[in-house]
Amino acid sequence: MDRHYLITGATDGIGKATAQAIAKSGATVVLVGRNPDKINTVVDQFKSDTYNKNIHGLCADLSSQAQIRQLADDYHTQFNRLDVLINNAGGYFYQRQESVDGIELTFALNHLAYFMLTGLLIDMLMMTGQTTGDARIVNVSSEAHRYKRKGIPFDDLQTINKYNAMKAYSLSKVANIMFTYELARRLEGKPVTANVLHPGFVRTGFTRNAHGVSQTIFSMIARFFAQSAENGAKTSIYLATSDDVRGQSGQYYGKSKLVDSSETSLELEAQQRLWDISLQMTGLEDFLSVDADATGV
Ligand SMILES: NC(=O)c1ccc[n+]([C@@H]2O[C@H](COP(=O)([O-])OP(=O)(O)OC[C@H]3O[C@@H](n4cnc5c(N)ncnc54)[C@H](OP(=O)(O)O)[C@@H]3O)[C@@H](O)[C@H]2O)c1
Repeated sequence: MDRHYLITGATDGIGKATAQAIAKSGATVVLVGRNPDKINTVVDQFKSDTYNKNIHGLCADLSSQAQIRQLADDYHTQFNRLDVLINNAGGYFYQRQESVDGIELTFALNHLAYFMLTGLLIDMLMMTGQTTGDARIVNVSSEAHRYKRKGIPFDDLQTINKYNAMKAYSLSKVANIMFTYELARRLEGKPVTANVLHPGFVRTGFTRNAHGVSQTIFSMIARFFAQSAENGAKTSIYLATSDDVRGQSGQYYGKSKLVDSSETSLELEAQQRLWDISLQMTGLEDFLSVDADATGV
């Protein structure tokens, strides 16, 4: 069986290491990046390193909703199944910036892109799951989600008030977890699972937007304390490929083990509210609607 994996942020860091390991298994791997030259280089490198010819690249800037729609269209046109979607691409932005859609960039890229790509590909995951009984969504979050201690600030999701990078980042990462829990609930009884993970502290290009003192401090800390991208990718690979987690859904993992996520992430009403707001912000139809009884509301 030729399993198909779609991995965002697969041109660097944790996503690249995840894609490379999965490519070694001989599966069809579709790498999503935003830079065509970089995508082609990585595709060629993987083909020659892994002797797997079924490696493909798709280009999209995932902070742009039009490009996410195009990406989903391209995937539908070129492929006929999707076994595993790994939402991994993310960023950390020292200055407040807005996406082409006028949305704060961290929220747009780190949360709304996960939400939107999942919504636009859920039909294909469902179709594959109906044949195999095992389609999966894997979302990459972070332990930084714990900084969001006082609940989700629904009145300032775009961090207009006193922006700082960690404030926006931690909001996006708790959103990854809440999205996954809500998604998993909506997928109950369906052949698609959804789980979320933290990769640990990983030496990647993640803080490339830092400059001056912050850059120096980050580089020094990363040099001594961070793990390699290959180690950081292990939990993503585990959730995407292992039989151990077949059929398991709605869980948060670290080091390939179950971990409790923060209290904020567990707030059921906030998970549902975030889902509804994400639909509004992306213009998607509700792709997994639930009746009131099923959610317990
Ligand atoms: N590194 C850590 O310590 C750490 C810790 C906890 C969680 N995480 C999470 O792990 C995930 C991956 O991070 P990483 O450390 O591997 O980062 P990274 O080395 O910076 O790689 C990020 C990947 O995402 C892509 N990307 C960035 N912005 C994009 C955009 N607008 N559109 C499309 N692709 C885009 C990058 O493409 P280019 O190659 O073109 O730059 C790259 O392939 C993120 O979700 C992050 O929050 C990382």
